[in-house]
Amino acid sequence: MRNVYKCGAALMGAALLLTACGGGSDDAATADPNAKEPSMRQKMLSHRVRPDCVSCHQLMDPIGFSLENFDGIGLWRSHDEGDAVDPKAQVFDRTQVDGPASLRDWLVSRYSNQFASVAAEKLLTYGLGRGVESRDMPLVRTIARDAAAQQNRFSALVLGVVKSRPFQMNMRQDEPAGATASISTNNDKRTN
Ligand code: HEC
Repeated sequence: MRNVYKCGAALMGAALLLTACGGGSDDAATADPNAKEPSMRQKMLSHRVRPDCVSCHQLMDPIGFSLENFDGIGLWRSHDEGDAVDPKAQVFDRTQVDGPASLRDWLVSRYSNQFASVAAEKLLTYGLGRGVESRDMPLVRTIARDAAAQQNRFSALVLGVVKSRPFQMNMRQDEPAGATASISTNNDKRTN
């Protein structure tokens, strides 16, 4: 799944050209200004009939449909543009899901190790403040493997990052040791 997301940026460009600059313009000129805005699900379903779009979007869209009860800022909603939200979807391995709880069950039962491995990578990126590179991948795998031995606990992932050598060596180098101590000595002199 990670590769799908990696190729997203370039394709978004293609999708934007199509939807913002290209194919959509005729529709916009003849559109009824009072027409109801379609729901996100309707919008996404309409481009899934195209074979050049389906190959990727059938991987991603059902996952998104199952989370449609969350709006753009994460608030729970039961309706989208007046229509009741339908969170039912069939994901790429043909499992039926019907909302966030069943999506989580699906991930946990089938993909928990991949999930933990990607989460380790993201946490390491956050902890190091830089992108994870190929030389970091043995560490990512070690963190994920150690976490798997502890039921993939979040704390195990965090500790794996915190105890890692790159994280521990990633200190700020611009303040010499003892700088804080000498400042307080100066203050002491001034107040006396
Ligand atoms: C190789 C994979 C791939 C193909 C093929 C592809 N897309 Fe996408 N598309 C993506 C990814 C990944 C995203 C999410 C990108 C992001 O948010 O960074 C996306 C996002 C979109 C969005 C934005 C959805 C939203 O949430 O607002 C639209 C619209 C879209 N694609 C339309 C299309 C259309 C139309 C086609 C066919 C002409 C197409 N895509 C083909 C991968 C693909």
